[in-house]
Formats: sequence, C-alpha cells, structure tokens
Amino acid sequence: MVLYPHFDINGQGHLTVGGLDTVKLAAEFGTPVNILDENYIRSQIRLYKACAAQYFGADALPLFASKALCCAEIYRIAADEGMGIDCVSPGELYIAGRVGFPAQRIYFHGNNKTDADLAMALDMGVGTFVVDNHEELSSLGELANARGMRARILLRITPGIDPHTHKAISTGGIDSKFGSAIGTGQAEQIVVSALNTPGIDLQGLHCHIGSQIFDAQPFVDAAEIMVAFMADMIRKHRAPLTELNLGGGLGVRYTEEQSTLDIDGTMKTIAAKVRELCRANEIEMPRVILEPGRSLVAAAGVTLYTVGSVKEIPGFKNYVSVDGGMADNPRYALYQSPYTALIANKADRPADFCATVAGRCCESGDLLGEGMLLQCPERGDILAMLVTGAYQHSMASNYNKLPRPPLVMIKDGEARVVVRRETYEDLMAYDVTDPVFSTR
Ligand code: LLP
Repeated sequence: MVLYPHFDINGQGHLTVGGLDTVKLAAEFGTPVNILDENYIRSQIRLYKACAAQYFGADALPLFASKALCCAEIYRIAADEGMGIDCVSPGELYIAGRVGFPAQRIYFHGNNKTDADLAMALDMGVGTFVVDNHEELSSLGELANARGMRARILLRITPGIDPHTHKAISTGGIDSKFGSAIGTGQAEQIVVSALNTPGIDLQGLHCHIGSQIFDAQPFVDAAEIMVAFMADMIRKHRAPLTELNLGGGLGVRYTEEQSTLDIDGTMKTIAAKVRELCRANEIEMPRVILEPGRSLVAAAGVTLYTVGSVKEIPGFKNYVSVDGGMADNPRYALYQSPYTALIANKADRPADFCATVAGRCCESGDLLGEGMLLQCPERGDILAMLVTGAYQHSMASNYNKLPRPPLVMIKDGEARVVVRRETYEDLMAYDVTDPVFSTR
C-alpha cells in the first residue's frame, strides 16, 4: 500500500490503483491522464452519509462541494448515492441540470451571483440559495417575487475563525470576502434584512471556515459561535432558523508526513458539541448540512505523466520534466501544495533521486513539486502523482494551449473515459477567425 489501501505495487513493481496497473492505464489512455477510483468516491460518500445520519440525525444532508471536481459523471454518482450538491457558478448549475440532478438538493453558493445567475437558479428550481450579501438578497427577493415564488435561503456568516491553513484557502475570518461577519454586527443586520425582504424565506445559516484543515477544534469553535448566534437571532428577532450548514474543509493526506483527519471521529465531536450548545442555548437541534469536497474525491485520484527530460544541475538541483504541469494542476504553483510522486513503472525500487518535478509550460514557476524522492527517473518512464482527485481537473487551464487531460474512472477492475482528452481542434473551438486566412 502507498498512502491509501487502493494504491499498491504489483508483482511487476508497477503502481496499481484500484487493482489496475497504472503503466497499462498510461499506455491505454495516453498521458497526461487523471485516473479516479469510483469505489473510493462512493465509499467516502457513504461514510459521510452514515456519520451525518448517526451523529446529526436522519435529516442531516451532506452536499458534495462540486468545485472540487465538476463533471457530469460525478453529479450522476452524487445523485445515485442520494447526496446533495453545492454549486458555485451557473456553469456548475448548468451541468447538474443537464444530467438531471434533483434541483431541490442543490445549494447555490457564491459571493457575487449575478441577476442572470439567480434567475437561472430560480427557473431551474434550485432548492436553497446561500446568500452572501445585501445586494444579492434584494435581487433574489425581487426575482423570486416576480415569479410568484419565495426563495429558500441560508445566510453566509463569517464566524471569525482562523483554521490554520494556507491563507488562500482560509475563509472564516472577519476580513474574508465571503459572507457577513458576526463580529462587526453585519451578520445581525443581514438577518434582519432577510426577515423583511419579500420573496425571501430565511431558513438558516451557513459558514465555511476554510479547506485542508487537520484538526477538529476549529470546526467545534465555529459550531459554537454559529449556534450561539443562531440562538441570539431566534430570541431577538424571532428568526425561524432551523438549518445550520457547517461547510466543508476536512483535511486530506497527500504525503506520508501528513496526518489523516478521521471523518467519523470529527463528525462525532462536532455533533456532540452542537447538541450540547443547542441545549445550553435552549434551541431545537437544527438540521445540519455539511459540504465536503476534497475529502470525498482527492484520494480517489492519481495523475499519470510521461517523463521527458532529466536535467541534473551539479551543486544545485535535478529537474525531472513531465508532459503536463501547472496547466493541468496549478496547485503547487498556487499554494506549494505537497504531493507524493513515484515512478509508476519502477515503484518497487529505492526512491533516492531527489527531484524538482517541472511541467512543460514556458514559465519557471511551472512546478508540480520540489524535493520529491523518485526511483531513478528516465525519459519514457511514467510518473504518478497521487491524491489528485480534488481541485485538479476543476482548476486546469489551457495555458500555453495545452489540451486538458481526460478523466478516466475505474471501477471493479474496469476503466472508462468519463471526460475525454481535449483535442487541438477543441483549442480552436472558440476562435472565430477563419483558420485558413493565411493560405489565401
Ligand atoms: N463549502 C464552501 C462554501 C467552500 O468554499 C468550499 C471550498 C467547500 C465547501 C469545500 O471545501 P473542502 O471540503 O473541499 O475543503 N482550490 C483550493 C481549495 C479551495 C477551497 C474552496 N472552497 C485547493 O486546491 O486546495
């Protein structure tokens, strides 16, 4: 086993995922390629659902934060497993709608939804809007009213928590661009406005403190602040708040050195605290919604690249360049996110070559990792990056006009393409210039 039970090394010394040989997968589907283990995703979904029901109650609903991985197939799996989803853009809503995801189970997020986005969501029958600000509140109220509807909403609240994660993915602080802070009095103001806005049906509150968090304490702290605020708003303003969405953010292990945040234990701890706080504040236990993204899909993924050049700069460092990079995975360039990499066709050999793994973009920051220990890399080898199922496919770009890699889903020993590789022709699909102008 390498990091997770579904990553292993077979008798030929090749890395396997879900029992399939990654060297064969690379040969069959080409590189770069993102492989996802469907059984792992489904087992994580079931774990979240079971824990939510056991600790928070039968009406608790985990939503898949689809920003972590958005494609038709993942919505099909989420629908099949009876999950809800969190969508954060009209594009995500559109795809969910196209595959027939039950609209009632969609929560629509975003700190700057346009009127067109709100209208689209209302017309689709989206179940719940997580309203970020006053402008959105009044636009949504007007649009819902004009349709003879009342929009079911939660208000996004910033509890003022520092979850000790990378600052780019920390969102619960008072100075966050998201939501309204309790500490400044703005959260209370927006609750009062929501109660007085026609077309708005205020049902509860939402917070999300950040991502890749390894400790249960910040979640407990956030729950404590949110329940106290909820009780306060119920008492002071008779706000009919019955739903509490605690967001996502549970950390995932990308390297041997990182710890694992036990989902069951964390849920149990948070739920016990929420119950205790509700009792202490004399309010009913709310319906609890959770929004995991990364912890459902990250460890399902492995990305396979082909090694091109191996450049040793004596006294400095060794570059191993692969046929992908920051265009298909910008996470190292953006957050210096650590990963585990290995040479898939030599996975049983000693990992004693210290490498800076570089991509093929024309940019020195185009790295996938530094100080990575690899098994004697040579041109033509397959380099596997593990735990790439979250925020990789969804954050990929066409920088340097590189076609985006496909998504291949594996399940019970079978592999199928669920998002095909982009072609060069795809790269021209939006150009309106006549492609033959230069030959005239
Ligand atoms: N709910 C809300 C409102 C969120 O903003 C997020 C993530 C989630 C749920 C899911 O959080 P998760 O369980 O995945 O940690 N691109 C960054 C991560 C950005 C997270 C944004 N919000 C990365 O690659 O690490």
